[in-house]
Amino acid sequence: MKVCVVGLGYLGATHAVAMAKLGHQVVGVDLDSNKVESLNAGKLSFHEPQLQDALEESLTGGMVRFLDTYDLPEPPEIFFICVGTPQAASGNAADLSSLISAGTSLAKIISPDTVVVGKSTVPVGSAASLREKMSEIAGFPVHLAWNPEFLREGTALEDSLNPDRIVVGSWDAYSALRVKEVYKPILEKGTPLVEVNVQTAELVKVSANAFLATKISFINAMAEIAEVSGADAVELARAIGFDSRIGNKFLRTGIGFGGGCLPKDIRGFVARAEELGAGEAVGFLKDVDAINMRRREKVVALSSQELGDLKDKKVLMLGLSFKPDSDDLRDSPALDIALRLTKAGARVTVHDPVSLSGLDDKHGDLIREENLTLAAKNQDIVILGTEWSEYKSIDPVEFGELVANRLIIDGRNVLDVDAWRTAGWRLIALGRNVHN
Ligand code: UGA
Repeated sequence: MKVCVVGLGYLGATHAVAMAKLGHQVVGVDLDSNKVESLNAGKLSFHEPQLQDALEESLTGGMVRFLDTYDLPEPPEIFFICVGTPQAASGNAADLSSLISAGTSLAKIISPDTVVVGKSTVPVGSAASLREKMSEIAGFPVHLAWNPEFLREGTALEDSLNPDRIVVGSWDAYSALRVKEVYKPILEKGTPLVEVNVQTAELVKVSANAFLATKISFINAMAEIAEVSGADAVELARAIGFDSRIGNKFLRTGIGFGGGCLPKDIRGFVARAEELGAGEAVGFLKDVDAINMRRREKVVALSSQELGDLKDKKVLMLGLSFKPDSDDLRDSPALDIALRLTKAGARVTVHDPVSLSGLDDKHGDLIREENLTLAAKNQDIVILGTEWSEYKSIDPVEFGELVANRLIIDGRNVLDVDAWRTAGWRLIALGRNVHN
């Protein structure tokens, strides 16, 4: 099919390549000509290795190309809107300006049998308003469907091509049919298809992210209890995770969740529910958010508990991105903790295998060091903020010879406590009462 993907950020760039991989002829559109130019040159603007290779293959095979205009050479049969819906600068609600602008532009170029599919994460009710606006501009009822995406950064292409389920929300059978045609190769593999109304499709996405955030904050709340009672939250998670009704995924305790999705989605969800007069229903998500933010404060508190006044104390933050295998610094717990420590007067050195180039002027106080050996030299405390595999395999004996003080906070609970202790480290593992 002739597919056009609008918005070439994480979601859009991945979706464009995934569509090409499925055998569709793809045009990607983004008004940012720099982004378009680099995609046409085979370069992603973010770190996603598997996708990088697939992009190059798709370009070479002539399956995908990128444009910075809606002036398309051939009319696509189906459009996917993949623009960002970040948290609004003015509050907790989602900023839908890119979505509205993309929809308005498409309404001017589509024909009555074109199908437009929203993939962006939106507050429930957004698609209905968009459809009304687009139909008014187009002069005919626009075929709009909603098809949320559940990909995770770091495994974006794999998640897109092998999703746990495909959710399609539509107002009419024709739109749903066209969406199912696009995903035929995936559906033929037996991937569950959930056909729902549009409001449900919008809600599935935010509620899935809200559930995941709740699971993480639940275990981090247990970590808070463990810290004051002598229990071990990692063992607790392991024990409850064996119950198949609970499951062991997303129960990793530590400094909590970040990124461009979970934090802004739970805040946007609360804001929308309040607008609908159902704020109480998801009021608990404010606690989920608060528990998450408390983990960051906890690390600062532990640091000053250990070192006293943090002024001029030397701190090494291992890892900055919000999770490993990603260079995304949006709402990163590790970066936030590094900035909080800087505010408290500490001299914070940051190390990360890929994300240091994403720092800008507002991070001016952070000392960037790409060489791990140099980064470790003479530090008073080390904090593991992102569980990159290269940190998990650090030799605590060798590493201990570099620092001034063998003190580490494991913010992700990935280090071998016994090995680090034996090497003479005082290791503080969040939620574990492992204070050596
Ligand atoms: C999340 C969802 O997992 C995807 O399904 C969804 O499509 C995506 O948001 C989105 O809305 O676009 P992502 O933001 O890539 O994906 O990251 P996750 O793997 O969900 O991790 C989020 C954060 O939670 C990370 O900071 C991670 O370190 C943290 N986390 C995760 C924990 O602290 N504990 C865990 O057990 C799991």
